[in-house]
Amino acid sequence: MTRRAILKGTGSALPRTRVSNDELAKRVDTSDEWIVERTGIRFRHIAEPDETTGTLGADAAREALKAAGLDAADIGLIIVATATPDNTFPATATKIQAMLGAPDCIAFDVAAVCSGFLYALSVADSMLRTGAANHALVIGSETFSRILDWEDRATCVLFGDGAGAVVLSAEEVGDDRGILATRLHAEGQYCDMLYVDGGPSTTGTVGHVRMQGREVFRHAVTNLASVLGEVMADVGLPADAIDWIVPHQANKRIIDATAKKLGLPAERVVLTVDQHANTSAASVPLALDLAVRDGRIKRGDLVVLEAMGGGFTWGAAVLRV
Ligand code: UT7
Repeated sequence: MTRRAILKGTGSALPRTRVSNDELAKRVDTSDEWIVERTGIRFRHIAEPDETTGTLGADAAREALKAAGLDAADIGLIIVATATPDNTFPATATKIQAMLGAPDCIAFDVAAVCSGFLYALSVADSMLRTGAANHALVIGSETFSRILDWEDRATCVLFGDGAGAVVLSAEEVGDDRGILATRLHAEGQYCDMLYVDGGPSTTGTVGHVRMQGREVFRHAVTNLASVLGEVMADVGLPADAIDWIVPHQANKRIIDATAKKLGLPAERVVLTVDQHANTSAASVPLALDLAVRDGRIKRGDLVVLEAMGGGFTWGAAVLRV
């Protein structure tokens, strides 16, 4: 028996307002046809002023706690993956801790943009296995609408707001349960391919998302296929053993190309990009929650999570649910 991090519950939250491609086409020179054909995106949710990364993250966390049958008081570790924190500091994790009414615990944010949830999950997995906590909340929450240049059609149509959360608990289990492997990467020499042109220490402003889309696309397909190969080699299983792949939801073409490289049929891929667009660190836990709640992902399934984003950063995880 080994101490491992087990997935006990999932939750998610979306802003009230849903925006279609046609609605966006009234603001910038674009069309539903272009967006669907190039990205697969049809809708995204956009936060109202009273909806923040903190409130959405707290809502997702409450759902995950309920699904896990735990109280906020049981949680010893809260990690929030976000590139759009409520404030420069304190960490949004501490704000969510306060919103949940969770007593003294470990709480901090992780900044790895779209790969943030994979980074946070990997850190939580290590901390649970080494005994820093027994129960952890890992949250991906974003309000990218607040850092988009709404005049730039090349980026503003791609992103949406939302949050997803998981509860992980440390348990003594056999070798085929819980988080089985994680792999993380970063190559900072590409940091100007996808970035925000502002920040507290440079411009003193929040800034806007800037992206060289074609370059990001090219690296995404290569890096994701390679990291998926690494995690499957770590667990000693062929790609065919994967029951569900829950990819980062940036572009349906990237998701299709990655699945094809692995030889995985589309039926085993969880797809939400059409409904949510790219919600950065929230996209993987949001998609995971959807597939758990609609009954696709069941106890015993082998699930693979992957993401790639600004930095560049990328990563993957394999878990037996
Ligand atoms: O989360 C990880 C980070 N994000 C990603 O993984 C995104 C990666 N990149 C992509 O998904 C794609 O590169 C995009 C969806 C961003 C762009 O698709 P593309 O097929 O690479 O298009 P492109 O950038 O090469 O642009 C093609 C054309 C351009 O016009 P010209 O120069 O060919 O006349 C653009 O100006 O499409 C034009 N264009 C648009 N047209 C209508 C760019 N954005 C739009 C738009 N509506 N919203």
